[in-house]
Amino acid sequence: MRILNASGCLDALAAREVARQLDAFVTKTVTPEPRAGSDPPRIAETAHGMLNAIGLANPGRDRFLAEHLPRLRELGVPLWVSVGGFSARDYAETCARLDDIEAIELNLSCPNVDEAADSAAEIVAACRVATDLPLYAKLSAAHPDVAEVARAVAAAGADGLSLVNTLRGVALDRQLRPVLARGSGGLSGPSLKPIALHAVSVCHESTGLPIVGMGGIQTGRDALEFAACGARDVALGTVLFADPGAPTRVRAEFVAACADAGVVSAEDGKALAKSPETERKVHA
Ligand SMILES: Cc1cc2nc3c(=O)[nH]c(=O)nc-3n(C[C@H](O)[C@H](O)[C@H](O)COP(=O)(O)O)c2cc1C
Repeated sequence: MRILNASGCLDALAAREVARQLDAFVTKTVTPEPRAGSDPPRIAETAHGMLNAIGLANPGRDRFLAEHLPRLRELGVPLWVSVGGFSARDYAETCARLDDIEAIELNLSCPNVDEAADSAAEIVAACRVATDLPLYAKLSAAHPDVAEVARAVAAAGADGLSLVNTLRGVALDRQLRPVLARGSGGLSGPSLKPIALHAVSVCHESTGLPIVGMGGIQTGRDALEFAACGARDVALGTVLFADPGAPTRVRAEFVAACADAGVVSAEDGKALAKSPETERKVHA
């Protein structure tokens, strides 16, 4: 099992030692044009997790390729570039300009991008034509049937899935006004974990594609649960804001959690999670 960061949750150039703990670094989503992002406040802590409305702030494709990517290469960590946009063409044009990286993650939960199965498949198909690099489709669990979307992107040529992105939420202050300037934001952190485990499980069952599991992972035991549901790798997001040593800690805890659960390999974990009783429960 490899440990990555979740896109947007780590500035590798500002926190190089954190990035160097990872098996691969995933960039913040890059869009064709620069984006200043949403007005502050952009982050709200709630009793149930973190809400963010960053608004995909990023330098845009040209500056990313000319300035950021060369500096990221100096880290010596395998790189994944997260690609976003507002049309299939936006995504494909960025993919066509990327090379010499480990993989591309297509953020299919961008504003104005329809997360329906056919629109997601259209984007993946356009990117498939534009690049030979491995393509991971990143989905949210907002769609009522995430497995249907997973099957559609698999048929369109995705090599893997990243599951899951945030879910939309609102936090109110004492005066009952939204805390975030934009009103709503994406909910992340431990409250996402049960939803993410379900998404990983059903998408693994219906596609068999390699999956990077994420959503509320804080410990090695959490990572093991994702592996048991079918994730090949995991990504750490919100936990990195509180614990910059999380990648090393989670890796060590994962080994201990496997021993605790009597699991020698991720395959064993999957077998346990798929015992008839558990399987019935996971898919119910
Ligand atoms: C501050 C912040 C910024 C994020 N930015 C992005 C992004 O640019 N692209 C993306 O695909 N996901 C983005 N995400 C979602 C994360 O990559 C991840 O899918 C989500 O937070 C669930 O994992 P977690 O609960 O471990 O944080 C962001 C999340 C947070 C908290």
